[in-house]
Amino acid sequence: MTETFLTFIEKEKEELDRRLPALIDSLNISNTLKQSMTYSLKAGGKRLRPMLLLATLSGYNKPLDLGYDVAAAIEMIHTYSLIHDDLPAMDDDDLRRGKPTNHKVYGEAMAILAGDGLLTYSFQCLSSLHLDSEMKVNLIFEIAKAAGPLGMVGGQVADIEGENKELNVDQLEEIHNRKTGELLGVSVVAGAILAGVSDGERHSLKLFAKHLGIAFQIKDDILDVEGDQQIIGKPVGSDEQNNKSTYPKILGMDGAKEKLSYHIEHAKKYLYETSMNHTLLEELTNYIESRSR
Ligand code: IPE
Ligand code: IPE
Ligand code: MG
Ligand code: MG
Ligand code: MG
Repeated sequence: MTETFLTFIEKEKEELDRRLPALIDSLNISNTLKQSMTYSLKAGGKRLRPMLLLATLSGYNKPLDLGYDVAAAIEMIHTYSLIHDDLPAMDDDDLRRGKPTNHKVYGEAMAILAGDGLLTYSFQCLSSLHLDSEMKVNLIFEIAKAAGPLGMVGGQVADIEGENKELNVDQLEEIHNRKTGELLGVSVVAGAILAGVSDGERHSLKLFAKHLGIAFQIKDDILDVEGDQQIIGKPVGSDEQNNKSTYPKILGMDGAKEKLSYHIEHAKKYLYETSMNHTLLEELTNYIESRSR
């Protein structure tokens, strides 16, 4: 990893770590709700979706100030999805981002509501942005689509419906694309919208992000088997326990790793088609392939 990339990640992660709790802190709401929302936001996520958005803006030579609020909104949606994903009714996990899961600390009802709060508040934040109205509606539309029944929520449903079933690789790819790829993808797309790039350019970026998103979830499946709980900050073996369909389960570990390389390669192919300075996004892609958390 180059010095430029490491400095970028460190600096921008710090920026998000500061901005996210501040957004909640300003709200005049129940103290428990505030604590519960802030607990998961501050628990130490990698902030990869914000990094993708900011790296896209940077690749088009745009000021990063344009992107922080949108990046924070997407990270709130992602954090809500994790709180709900860990609930007993879903994956029933006790550890997230190296800490007890939200419902373990605040109880199920508050965890559900903290998730609801993060989701709806993210759209309140987005709609309050001082942006050209058409651009703002476009952003809200893309983010809502990626997060909702056509995107992450739909993918989570398919993931649950796929438990205890023998799925084929195409079906699994569709689940991974929707439950994880869509929100990662819209992070890149939001950066492109804010940067005002052409439709052609956006098309290549979407294909880049699609392959990157699938690769990201394949790596997540791999880490669920061979990761170190201390490092990934969540339980190892959760998928096995829930009888999930995953890449290692369907293709074996070697097959899953081959698929990971395949999608990383394709992501890069589409990235190189764009006219942007792709250095940061390329390094983020390498990081996603080789990460241990
Ligand atoms: C975990 O996402 C959930 C998936 C979509 C696989 P991340 O690995 O980005 O989790 P954090 O934000 O760093 O905790
Ligand atoms: C869930 O996938 C992705 C979400 C939309 C939250 P996983 O269930 O595999 O995510 P982890 O492994 O719990 O982070
Ligand atoms: Mg899950
Ligand atoms: Mg899970
Ligand atoms: Mg997982």
